[in-house]
Amino acid sequence: MSRQAPRAGFTDVDWETDREFYVRCLEYQSSSPFTQMYKRRTFDLLDMRPGHRVLDVGCGLGQDVLAMAELIGPTGEAVGLDLSRTMIEEARKRSQATDLPVSYYHGDAHGLPFADGSFDRCHADRTFQHLPHPERALAEMIRVTGPGGKLLIVEPDHETLVIDTPYREVTRRFLAFRSDTLAQGDIAHRLYRMFKEFRLADVAVEAATQVSTDYEATNSVMRFDGGIRVAQEHGVVTEEEADRWVAYIEEAAREDRFLCALTYFITVGRKPA
Ligand SMILES: C[S@@+](CC[C@H](N)C(=O)[O-])C[C@H]1O[C@@H](n2cnc3c(N)ncnc32)[C@H](O)[C@@H]1O
Repeated sequence: MSRQAPRAGFTDVDWETDREFYVRCLEYQSSSPFTQMYKRRTFDLLDMRPGHRVLDVGCGLGQDVLAMAELIGPTGEAVGLDLSRTMIEEARKRSQATDLPVSYYHGDAHGLPFADGSFDRCHADRTFQHLPHPERALAEMIRVTGPGGKLLIVEPDHETLVIDTPYREVTRRFLAFRSDTLAQGDIAHRLYRMFKEFRLADVAVEAATQVSTDYEATNSVMRFDGGIRVAQEHGVVTEEEADRWVAYIEEAAREDRFLCALTYFITVGRKPA
């Protein structure tokens, strides 16, 4: 059986049959206190000022674009770009009721449809994990940022995902496979080096860990039960191992002792003046 991981999901939402799942997933995530906490921190680090022109690469439903527009005021402009037409339509719908200075573009992070140096700030939240060519996308973010402008990328590091089970070996195999199903499961801890290699200035990195003890909520986004079945189909775990693993996780949830954790890295830098 092939161990090669399947790839789709957020890498190409429009290709998926259940696009509503991805919309719901972003809605759910944005309502979590952890997400709100780390997003506040990313906005602080970006140091947005009135009048700034800011870009959000992989803007999803556009929630960050709206939040950034509040910070830069009526003389600035917040621009969201996404590969998915579904996401751009949703983002446009959600900004209809506001008169904030926002605009949305359908486009690809690997070839941004913007002029050199046209933004003061450039931001991407959980987009790079889904990109086939993250170096190209980072080069594009740097190109469209003006001299002295700040860039920030935040990503969960799927190599840091832990789930408490007594089946340590099976859990390890499953989580390694799961990380490999993403285009860039380990991008979060590679970005610091990439920022340095691209000769950005004032590069800094911070981490924040999301700890979850709510299986239902976590599974609705992470889909552990379905994921281990995909691992089974690819010969990574046996049917018996998958059955035991799911039975344990569900029992842990019923008995209120489920725990998983995932660390996010926030990497920030400045384009030299
Ligand atoms: C996990 S979502 C995050 C959305 C948003 N940044 C947020 O924080 O809610 C990842 C987003 O990246 C978009 N995306 C994936 N590949 C892309 C690409 N090549 N160019 C632009 N956007 C892309 C997806 O369509 C999706 O909206």
